[in-house]
Amino acid sequence: MANPIPSRLLPDNTSIDENGSGSIAGCNLVELAEEYGTPLFVYDENHLRARCREAVKAFGEGVAYAGKAFLCGAMSRLVVEEGMNIDVATGGELYMALHAGIDGSRLIMHGNNKSESELRMALEAGVSRIVVDSFDELERLQILHKETGISPKILLRITPGVEAHTHEFISTGQDDSKFGFTVSTGLALEAVERAVKTEAVELVGIHAHIGSQVFKVDSFIRAVEVMAEFSNPLELPELSIGGGLGVSYLEEDHAPSITEWGEAVQTACAQTGIKAKVTAEPGRAIAAAAAITLYRIGTIKELEGLRTYVAVDGGMSDNPRPVLYGSGYETFLPRSMDKKRDRSIRMVGKHCESGDLLVREGWIPSDVAIGDVIATPVTGAYGHSMGSNYNQVLRPPVIFVKDGEATEVVARETFPDLVRRER
Ligand code: LLP
Repeated sequence: MANPIPSRLLPDNTSIDENGSGSIAGCNLVELAEEYGTPLFVYDENHLRARCREAVKAFGEGVAYAGKAFLCGAMSRLVVEEGMNIDVATGGELYMALHAGIDGSRLIMHGNNKSESELRMALEAGVSRIVVDSFDELERLQILHKETGISPKILLRITPGVEAHTHEFISTGQDDSKFGFTVSTGLALEAVERAVKTEAVELVGIHAHIGSQVFKVDSFIRAVEVMAEFSNPLELPELSIGGGLGVSYLEEDHAPSITEWGEAVQTACAQTGIKAKVTAEPGRAIAAAAAITLYRIGTIKELEGLRTYVAVDGGMSDNPRPVLYGSGYETFLPRSMDKKRDRSIRMVGKHCESGDLLVREGWIPSDVAIGDVIATPVTGAYGHSMGSNYNQVLRPPVIFVKDGEATEVVARETFPDLVRRER
């Protein structure tokens, strides 16, 4: 018998009224579902702002938000207003941030396979740093330097050979990786030598990102140790530990806070003699717990003695994480947030495959019925951003709620949108 949904998995400004009905920032969730339709991403704006401020406090101004976790114009402006820069990983993310009015000086360009045109775009935008991932990229920057005369400030992404104890698909620090310059094989040192020699770039620091959804602060500390040994003799002014701090998705999860992560990293840096300014680029830890997704239940299929399937109007197109990584989520009924969740269900989507599940094992109150609004918490990172149009299902809108007011920041996709690119 599962208890009511624990508040630590909900956005900061969640409240429950005397009837058990839930609101975020004063906006009732069932009413939001009625007004905006479902599925619907609901973000607690002040929760986002609080996490940005926590990151700025932990790492200083200029700590970057990893836009891949969740990006749109409103989010770009919010994080910059709170003192963060933005890490963009493709030309598309770069375009989106620039379109939002963000100055290039607030952007950091990432990517393991940046094309010449993406690099040109980054140079023209005047991005503050380019994180160089390969020798091929260095060569492209040399060609572009001849053409533009620009010598961007760069960090070299090194692969420290650290296992992050996370899902294989989101683990990046181990030697066998497509990312970065491997330290153990000498590639990282060779990259430094080449970067120092050429006028095409100005080497200012070293970067590493060991993986995502990392719960063990120890893994970051081991990365810091490798980075210190490698980079201290180089006496470069900057060092980025990347992102990757995990968040709690389930009742039994206990992830470190941004503050705890920052303190552990800063302490490890001091202890290993790192003099460089230490920065980071969290994505998930900023955005994940700020949002919930609202769906409406359309079908309930009971299999006596086996299980109950509860089918909703979204699915793997708005949250592919359960299918991709086997990720677990909690679920709850916004109308009855004070009730015991005593009925086990499997929450599935509307896509035409059995793998389309949102919650493998969820618990909700036993009086669940067709037409109920049902929610999954902690969907603010890598849901909207990894969404798709599979089965021509329309991508949901995004709303920000604050002080009793809801603002639609991304509209629901429409049927005409689906055919807009057809010739
Ligand atoms: N910096 C770099 C260079 C990265 O590659 C990433 C994530 C981050 C920062 C931000 O990591 P975060 O703090 O969000 O963990 N789609 C997967 C996550 C992929 C992460 C890719 N890189 C998921 O849904 O779990």
